[in-house]
Amino acid sequence: VFSQRTRWSSAENVIARAVEERRRSGQPFIDLTETNPTNVGLGLRAAELAQALGHPDVSRYRPLPLGMPSAREAVAQTFDGRVPVDHICLTASTSEAYGWLFKLLCDPGDRVLVPAPGYPLFDYLATMENVQLVAYPSRSWDDWSIDFARLESQVTPTTRAIILVSPSNPTGAMLHRDDLPRLAALCARSGLAIICDEVFADYAEPQAARVSSLAGFDEVLTFVLGGLSKSCLLPQMKVGWIAVSGPAPAVAEAMSRLDIIADSYLSVNTPTQLALPTFLSSRAEIQRPLRARLTANRARLTAELTATAATVLPSDGGWSAVIRVPETCSEETWTLRLLEQGVLVHPGFFFDFEGGAYLVVSLIVPETLFAEAARVLRRILIVPE
Ligand SMILES: Cc1ncc(COP(=O)(O)O)c(C=O)c1O
Repeated sequence: VFSQRTRWSSAENVIARAVEERRRSGQPFIDLTETNPTNVGLGLRAAELAQALGHPDVSRYRPLPLGMPSAREAVAQTFDGRVPVDHICLTASTSEAYGWLFKLLCDPGDRVLVPAPGYPLFDYLATMENVQLVAYPSRSWDDWSIDFARLESQVTPTTRAIILVSPSNPTGAMLHRDDLPRLAALCARSGLAIICDEVFADYAEPQAARVSSLAGFDEVLTFVLGGLSKSCLLPQMKVGWIAVSGPAPAVAEAMSRLDIIADSYLSVNTPTQLALPTFLSSRAEIQRPLRARLTANRARLTAELTATAATVLPSDGGWSAVIRVPETCSEETWTLRLLEQGVLVHPGFFFDFEGGAYLVVSLIVPETLFAEAARVLRRILIVPE
């Protein structure tokens, strides 16, 4: 009775079992896989949320497929005039935005190219839309630029889009400015859209050699994704957005089709849409404590791992750090050894790293806990090369 595409494996992996065992036996650990800002003292307090959500129009329902004009305008303002309000579509999350774009761009079996290493979010979303994901590996960790030979070799007549995540989760790498002309030429030549996930864009410093945002990029059809979960540390508010740009006829067609997709769901709730201008206007303030935490935790990690066999990889931004570890044992073994000492990290294979051994840690946990965990990492990773 069930579809083939939802026949997911429910097998637990060794690390998940070890975590469960530790929980059951009451042994505490510091969770450096934590990425939920509401679990680490970030975001707005209940009273602030209640005030923002108490808009007088909250009792009225207006089914507007792309979202309320005031909410879309607030999102457009974050792009400093590069994307007009008419080209903004609200969604209930960035994940939902991916689902809608796969519906918009792909027929069953069509291909979408995704970066590797990358966050393992896309597999399920693509499977549910009958889309085939094909990974395109980046170059090595010292620059993470696009490996065009490998990217181009993956483009076939049924390829519809290239996903970029800038800054990347987990590497933090942003789109290199030098890569953009070649990427645009490839997309124009092969009829591909760009889907640029910029959920972490507010957590990177502008750099001349990197593209800060593709919002408003008009050479090819481009969809920039963002959302409240990262920009305002409010994942519980369930709002994301798509900013569309590109050649005018393609943008007009995309907006008219997105309107029908969005109208079929009408998934963005009214209270959050009404509160969106308030949330977005306070985003610099909301982000400030996290930015300080990210800087402090990265500096702490780098300091603790100096003169160990591990290296903290350079990053342009984002919420995580990648640690290159010796290949004297597997990523799984490193992870289990750290867990035994009370620190949970992600093994690199979770993100599809190629070559070498890696661990990934979240930088959003409070500084004192993070410092404690970093000392454990140091102790475990001090091994002769
Ligand atoms: C790169 C990236 N895109 C999108 C998402 C999902 O964001 P949302 O909560 O808006 O669905 C995540 C979640 O961590 C992410 O890492």
